[in-house]
Amino acid sequence: MYETTDASALTGAAPPRGVRVDRDDNDNGNDNAFRRDLLAGLSKTPRSIAPKYFYDAEGSALFDRICELPEYYPTRTERHILERHGREMAEVVGPHADIIEFGAGSLEKIRILLHSFGARALPRRYFPIDISAAHLEAAASRLHADYPWLQVRPIAADYMKEAQLSGLDASTGRRVGFFPGSTIGNFDADEAMAFLQLAARVLEGGGLLVGVDLVKDPQTLHRAYNDAQGVTAAFNMNLLRRANAELSADFDLREFGHYAFYDPRKCRIEMHLVSRCAQTVHVAGRDFSFDEGESLHTENSHKFTIEGFRKLAVSAGFRPGPVWTDDAQLFSVHWLESPEGGMGAS
Ligand code: AVI
Repeated sequence: MYETTDASALTGAAPPRGVRVDRDDNDNGNDNAFRRDLLAGLSKTPRSIAPKYFYDAEGSALFDRICELPEYYPTRTERHILERHGREMAEVVGPHADIIEFGAGSLEKIRILLHSFGARALPRRYFPIDISAAHLEAAASRLHADYPWLQVRPIAADYMKEAQLSGLDASTGRRVGFFPGSTIGNFDADEAMAFLQLAARVLEGGGLLVGVDLVKDPQTLHRAYNDAQGVTAAFNMNLLRRANAELSADFDLREFGHYAFYDPRKCRIEMHLVSRCAQTVHVAGRDFSFDEGESLHTENSHKFTIEGFRKLAVSAGFRPGPVWTDDAQLFSVHWLESPEGGMGAS
């Protein structure tokens, strides 16, 4: 059964490419949250914007290309870990689970996991949650075509907003979250904690399989976010193109550059869009002056130690279980149990 009720209820007919589909509490239109957050982010010092705004249709397609780049090790390494240890993961997930994927993207990694279940223990329902409805709908119908026995129920939503997750009411089985790709690294400390607490609540009695990128040598990290083909640069710059298309902005794409570096003290990659000259930009009827070299901070990508991440999970209410890594310890996948009745329960 392939059900689109949640996504269509939120978005109506499939939106044209590039049109936002996530809703916000006070929004009537599609682009209000982007407008509001970009204007707020440009008004403060230093300037910043949440990385979730990368993912319109164009940005999602660019991200898919990043995942294939030779320099970008996380995707293929995590895939390898899922392939190698899928059986053990299927064991901890348990039979007939409802799998809830947060920020599901192209729904590729769930396929690897699905292959690891024995015929008698297959998951029952799959709830991919993603902000990009058009991308999600297309990926969900492809998945259902390949796994007709799986109930696929896409939810077009911001998974950080519990109020948008009413589609999960249809989940009546043991709930297991799937959050691959180390997207948790894109959150700041408060957001990571808020996400993990929300996940522990939503998944109570089940657990979470989460992919986490590991601290490693800075050169490997630097190359992963400064690829030779410039795909990561295009992904970063797409934010400005999107603002031009959706918010009547006039960013001159030739006058901004992609800048990404690893800060070993903060254990994170920072991505910025740096102004190449002194210039004034207009966004939604407002003026913003940039000095030469001034940046709009677009993303952090935190890297963790295994112990550091397990501690974080404990403070959010999970009981950490097995951790799987590749031989080079580039990447990790953690099983976190969410005990019934919270951590106090045994
Ligand atoms: C989605 N996320 C985990 C990616 C990362 O590595 O932080 C996003 C990304 N940004 C640049 N390249 C990839």
